[in-house]
Amino acid sequence: MAVFDGQDMRDYLERVSRQPLVRAIRDQGVELLKVTPGERVLDAGCGPGDMAARFADLGASVTAMDHDPAMVGVAGDIPGITAVTADLATLDRPGEFDVIWSERVLQHVHDPDQIVGNLVRALAPGGRICLVDVDWTGLVVDGVDDDLTDQVLGVFRTVVANPSMGRTLRRRLVRHGVVKTEVKAFLGVSTELADAAAVIPVLDERVIPGPAAWFSALRAADEKGEFLTALPVYLVLGSA
Ligand SMILES: C[S@@+](CC[C@H](N)C(=O)[O-])C[C@H]1O[C@@H](n2cnc3c(N)ncnc32)[C@H](O)[C@@H]1O
Repeated sequence: MAVFDGQDMRDYLERVSRQPLVRAIRDQGVELLKVTPGERVLDAGCGPGDMAARFADLGASVTAMDHDPAMVGVAGDIPGITAVTADLATLDRPGEFDVIWSERVLQHVHDPDQIVGNLVRALAPGGRICLVDVDWTGLVVDGVDDDLTDQVLGVFRTVVANPSMGRTLRRRLVRHGVVKTEVKAFLGVSTELADAAAVIPVLDERVIPGPAAWFSALRAADEKGEFLTALPVYLVLGSA
């Protein structure tokens, strides 16, 4: 998300990675991908490399790739993985990977189809790809005036390059020739404002400048025990 960078981004990713929902999604991805020792795995847009580390623990030969050198620096400290600074928009490594994982990356990029094409081309014959992304257009917030919520969430969606990425992942893969797709959808529900604001930037006034009325309405709903938010996340698996 463009709203974070540097240490703030790393802190945000760390908070997200502790979420039970994110852990469940990652567990599901690992279960579906069935990575075996020696397989060549690419964590595309690896951030601090949580998933790269997981695949390395399974005995895979892991490349962690990100265009942010600071992220690559963090991922590079994980034993047994190769960390590379590179822009996925120019990725040109045809047939080099048995498995590709890319989590919460495509919502941020300028040309997601170009990157999906590059990733699919990087798969070896029969290789598996797993994309995970949020659908910010499906975010709902209850307990606050609907018109105000629509207005604020409408502005928030303009901050994210591709806010509805989650729901589009499967068709983007299919258009690039990926077959045998499997889609899993998850709904992250929170009834505590502090918990939700830790991972949903539009709920945190320190992150997103929004109308004061929005943040006071959120706090009022929370104090009354009426606050609820739900956010869909999609995981799509396919084969080359
Ligand atoms: C929200 S973070 C997710 C990181 C990691 N996949 C995770 O789940 O913790 C998005 C990551 O994608 C990287 N990224 C965004 N656009 C990229 C691009 N065009 N090429 C390579 N990395 C990119 C960012 O630098 C950032 O580390």
